[in-house]
Amino acid sequence: MKKRVLTVVMAGLLGAGLAACGSSSSTSASTEAAATTEAAAATTEAAAATTEAAATTEAASESASVDLSQSKYLSDGVMTVGLNATFPPFEYVGDGTDTFDDITANEGNVTGFDVAMMNEIGKRIGVSVEIEDMDFDGIIPALGSKIDVAATGMTITDERKESVNFSDPYYDATQSVLVKADSTIATEDDLKNCSAIGVQGGTTGETIARGINDAATVSVKSFNQAVADLVNGKNDAVILDQVPAEAFAESYSGQIKALDGSQLNFDVEQYGIAMPKDDEVMLDAINGALSDMKADGTYDSLVEQYISNYSAE
Ligand code: ARG
Repeated sequence: MKKRVLTVVMAGLLGAGLAACGSSSSTSASTEAAATTEAAAATTEAAAATTEAAATTEAASESASVDLSQSKYLSDGVMTVGLNATFPPFEYVGDGTDTFDDITANEGNVTGFDVAMMNEIGKRIGVSVEIEDMDFDGIIPALGSKIDVAATGMTITDERKESVNFSDPYYDATQSVLVKADSTIATEDDLKNCSAIGVQGGTTGETIARGINDAATVSVKSFNQAVADLVNGKNDAVILDQVPAEAFAESYSGQIKALDGSQLNFDVEQYGIAMPKDDEVMLDAINGALSDMKADGTYDSLVEQYISNYSAE
């Protein structure tokens, strides 16, 4: 009787393993399962060990659903995520074909890496996710009122840390410069002679632009606008993060180009998920989910899917 149960457990585990790899057909799965049945019957000890392992796995996945009852902002079971969807491939307005199983509200069909990451975090900590697309400079002030967290390619800075909690860093970044395809602008010095450098209000790119050439800095609400102004000749350059710069260069291929940020004298940056300061329970839960995702390969596969394989829509 007991042996029978153990056999079922083992066959079940084997089946699950094969399904996860997605390679073998079900025929070979059941053949292998049959072989396992014999092995399990013969070696009771081995089977017992497997049962224990199975029990441990179950316990681990159960404890992964986090207790958020003491979270000031997430105890209602909903995590509202603020972002500015003019930042491909991290967040941008998609065509609606990307759907995310844990996201229950997403008016503008926003998609991208940050959206997928927050969907996954929501699933792991046991909350549903709502997406709120807003102006970048309104995001930090809205934390704790309109939104619970911000996942928007936001650079961790000392100044921001005074008003928000940041998760552990999740992505290394640098600023870059977008210029017209035929432009001779190549260095920081060249930017000193520009008459219009487009930036998005409230970004680290804006801080850099003002440091180089305050008089020429033109701050707008969206990167789509700043880049359109470059394409139309209103701006000489746009300062923004490297990966989005490359995404825009692809969208306007032949018209604009992204300079290599590592050749410019800009600081290295890291993105973090921003949260209100008065919720350590949320901070721990999000950091826990993030580190689990990194450990089990989910994080890397999202990078692959949304960043490495991004192609402009
Ligand atoms: N990393 C830069 C910053 O934190 C730019 C982020 C802009 N993000 C966006 N979704 N528009 O200031």
